[in-house]
Amino acid sequence: MSQQQDTLTIRRPDDWHVHLRDGAALKLVADYTARQFARAIIMPNLTPPVTTVAAARDYRERILAAVPAERNFTPLMTAYLTDQISADELARGFDEQVFTACKLYPAGATTNSSSGVTDVANIRGVLERMQKIGMPLLIHGEVVDPEIDIFDREAVFIERILGPMLKDFPALKVVLEHITTEDAVQFVSDAGPNVAATITAHHLEINRNAMLVGGIRPHLFCLPVLKREKHRLALRRAAVSGDPKFFLGTDTAPHTREAKETACGCAGIFSAPIAMESYAKTFDEEGALDRLEGFSSEFGPRFYGLPVNEETVTLRRREQRVPGVIENEHLSVVPFHAGETLAWSFEDADGS
Ligand code: DOR
Ligand code: ZN
Repeated sequence: MSQQQDTLTIRRPDDWHVHLRDGAALKLVADYTARQFARAIIMPNLTPPVTTVAAARDYRERILAAVPAERNFTPLMTAYLTDQISADELARGFDEQVFTACKLYPAGATTNSSSGVTDVANIRGVLERMQKIGMPLLIHGEVVDPEIDIFDREAVFIERILGPMLKDFPALKVVLEHITTEDAVQFVSDAGPNVAATITAHHLEINRNAMLVGGIRPHLFCLPVLKREKHRLALRRAAVSGDPKFFLGTDTAPHTREAKETACGCAGIFSAPIAMESYAKTFDEEGALDRLEGFSSEFGPRFYGLPVNEETVTLRRREQRVPGVIENEHLSVVPFHAGETLAWSFEDADGS
């Protein structure tokens, strides 16, 4: 039997899908991401959404101001696509290195998506321009058709929207975000090298039973919603496969405790405080710790055409208890794995 591995030192990872929010929430959550990750793709679903170069520059400043000065952290900004958005504004932001990518939310699919795209036919000109300049399109891949069962919304999106879109724009760089189904794994595996996917820590760890059996667990409600076990297993196979099309994106999405523990709770799991520990758990269980660095620190930069990070971080097999709540004087957020003990710990640069 091989010896158990107790430490893992890898290139500093990046998080390719993060919600940092704004105001007091931003101040509370930003450092949890900056502590572990060198760069993060910042989601633009604020109110109002980030749709201009000027708004993205301002938001980037607020993020940097919310992160302790000693951190080496780069927020990579995204533009929120609307039916009316101008291709020129997007191209200018990309050229000026303010926008790294654009985010497509089908209108009504999730938190703050009401200004999203009502029909991809409305953004054909934008997609054409993005394809031409090599600007990545990040997709929340769920249809919003009320007739479609919520557990099928990702698979139907692939069939009805994404497949045809890639036929029309075969060279468009696409990241199908936070995939949750074996259908998505199959689609992305079969697509060209311009198509990739991010996978969250929580979709690798839990299935829908965790949210619904023995009582409803609002802190495990996210979108796309957790699926059945066979899908989780397909995601785990993809994550540890070493296929560079699949890389890390936590979709850490904090909401206040009150907004989650209510009659109509918000979607989102706040995983940033234990993000790498959670991925390490999955890769450890799969006997694939040697594949974690590719997934976390190499395949994302390769897809985005960015250099890999030269710094390293260390994960140690050392138990830690996750706080039940993370709060400041303005708000409280319940993190993923609240109150539980995890086997792995992320070591800060100072070894604490
Ligand atoms: O669970 C989610 N939360 N999924 C999303 O797509 C959005 C996010 C949020 O912003 O809260
Ligand atoms: Zn998200």
